[in-house]
Amino acid sequence: MAGAWHIGIVGGSGLAAGLDLENAQEIEVESPFGLPSGPVTTGTLGGVRFTFLARHGAGHRIPPSAVNYRANIDALKRCGVTDVIALSAIGSLNEAMAPGHFVAVDQFIDRTSGREGSFFGPGMVAHVSLADPVCDRLRSALVAAVTAEGATVHDGGTYLAMEGPQFSTRAESRLYQAWGADVIGMTAMPEARLAREAELPYALLGMVTDYDSWRENEAGVDAAAVLAVMAANVATAQQAMRRFAADLPPEREASPIDRALDFAIMTAPAQRD
Ligand code: ADE
Repeated sequence: MAGAWHIGIVGGSGLAAGLDLENAQEIEVESPFGLPSGPVTTGTLGGVRFTFLARHGAGHRIPPSAVNYRANIDALKRCGVTDVIALSAIGSLNEAMAPGHFVAVDQFIDRTSGREGSFFGPGMVAHVSLADPVCDRLRSALVAAVTAEGATVHDGGTYLAMEGPQFSTRAESRLYQAWGADVIGMTAMPEARLAREAELPYALLGMVTDYDSWRENEAGVDAAAVLAVMAANVATAQQAMRRFAADLPPEREASPIDRALDFAIMTAPAQRD
């Protein structure tokens, strides 16, 4: 069924300041999965409702391993968002994806460990499909918006999610390249999996801040470099989101991802609480 858009944004490093939403209101959202990273800010951008959540909390205090990804996605779902966009700083494993470029990724390799990665636990077994973890419709709209803002954006790319918080060794960086990963970050997983379980179409717009540590004779990445490139490009990301909002079709057509659980639950109906 067609309806209104309500875009949830998870803002990563450098993007905690948000999107300059109109009629913004801050709301504390409770979740049975614990505390989200902070209150959400809800408001409009070009007439479209947006709800923003800073992934690392106010003042960037929550490390990637300690983000409550379940509570964050659940909080956005409870706010009524229809689609989720993650905005994240990423390292590049691909020469062509240079610092300052954007990448609208389309695949993930998950190397995180020990994070709560599912809303389903004992009592209810669900195996949701994740072959295509990114919503094509959102990704194409993001690519068009960034292009219209005059920035370079790569349409597609494989994101390797690492545990961190330390950056990779040179050997790890080269290994991930050999696996076919294009970019690297610490937060897209389990966020993308959980969005799918929550039946929320998800796309990730990454901003390349560095070449990670695979290049011969070059210093490896450090946090100061990541933040400096972020700061230089954050205005473009904000402008691109404005453009994205302005160019959305007025009505949101239903997505198959809105019904991702229809064929995922294995527990017999009579056994479900
Ligand atoms: N975020 C930004 N740059 C990164 C890198 N090189 N590795 C992991 N996460 C990152």
